[in-house]
Amino acid sequence: MAREILDSRGNPTVEAEVILEGGFKGRAAVPSGASTGSHEALELRDRDLKRFGGLGVKQAVANIRDKIAPALIGREAGDQAGIDQILISLDGTENKANLGANAILAVSMAAARAGALASNQPLYQYLGGGTKLPVPLFNVINGGKHGDNDVDIQEFMIAPIGFASFGEALRAGAEVYQSLKKIVKAHGYATNVGDEGGFAPALKSDEEALELITEAIKSAGYELGIQFKLALDCAASEFYRGGRYVIGGQGLTSEQLIDFYQTLCQRYPIFSIEDPLSEDDWPGWAAMTAKLGGTLQIVGDDLLVTNPKRLEWAIREKSCNSILIKLNQIGTVTETLNCIRQAQRAGFSVVISHRSGETEDTFISYLAVAVNATQIKSGAPCRTERVAKYNELLRIEEQLDERGSYAGRAILTNRQ
Ligand code: PGA
Ligand code: ZN
Repeated sequence: MAREILDSRGNPTVEAEVILEGGFKGRAAVPSGASTGSHEALELRDRDLKRFGGLGVKQAVANIRDKIAPALIGREAGDQAGIDQILISLDGTENKANLGANAILAVSMAAARAGALASNQPLYQYLGGGTKLPVPLFNVINGGKHGDNDVDIQEFMIAPIGFASFGEALRAGAEVYQSLKKIVKAHGYATNVGDEGGFAPALKSDEEALELITEAIKSAGYELGIQFKLALDCAASEFYRGGRYVIGGQGLTSEQLIDFYQTLCQRYPIFSIEDPLSEDDWPGWAAMTAKLGGTLQIVGDDLLVTNPKRLEWAIREKSCNSILIKLNQIGTVTETLNCIRQAQRAGFSVVISHRSGETEDTFISYLAVAVNATQIKSGAPCRTERVAKYNELLRIEEQLDERGSYAGRAILTNRQ
């Protein structure tokens, strides 16, 4: 069964249900990006301007009903790899352009849920059996395509590393978020939030965002550098124009941009930068990793798009040392799990991520624990579609009890 529902931006997205013979029912909804990498699997949209401005997903829903469902009837739900292989073959394209990655992923995730229920296991157990609670990277200031402001860098995040449990880390993150709200206001800015729940003030510079966050951490009574570290997602493909990086009103070369990042890292305790360079600037990425990779987590999102081929290339070229994982960039649960394993074998850290357009679905919370991912990105501790993932992790932590452990400081290398 499938339907068109709304995501957190009020745009349509796909929801699917897989029902097993024994009555077990798995349901899942797919998210949707705004700063979408050009190498991602295809999100099928109707382009019928009479509905949702062309963004409808009726065709993807029809593909589930008319093509996918008949192919899956009678299949073993416990065989996730087998189900995903059927979906991949049925589509037959490299980037899931035929049926749509949104159609395929909704079914793949729903099948995993149904399979977990039928085997009487929590989803984190069913998908991998990990026991680590990830460090939440709270995106507290939104810029780029996620904020209605002139801030170039898309995400300014805080990482609560110095806490004993996920629950404590969540509490501290929420306290800093509230303290940031007061500070943003005190500096004369509006406290409206962006797509991922972070504030989106009309700041004068990227560095001002780091200043406000520094102030907020202090004023909440925490020590920056010890209890909290900072992280950025530059989403640099979005400000790469005509061979230059247009940031802070200047057009920079890759080398100049890397120098800019180095200066930021010297001024602030930034432990991680995602998409510092554009998605096809392979030489720039290699230069960045050679220069800063020893002390900095360099995360490939638009660069890698959860794609094993691009990941393999990045491992060989030493382009980065960490991968952002988004299920809908590749389109099935099995391919996502394989990509995560490939990254872990290469010594990359794994950051499981939401999209800027989300739903109430909390699949990624389970995925993060299942694979022992050390970090999760689900936006600010604000807006229910963001908080739902964090709240689910609280429940998982409670369930795991003594068996669970918070990743905390272990996400840092010994040179950080
Ligand atoms: P997106 O942004 O979901 O809009 O692509 C999230 C990210 O870039 O990490
Ligand atoms: Zn990103």
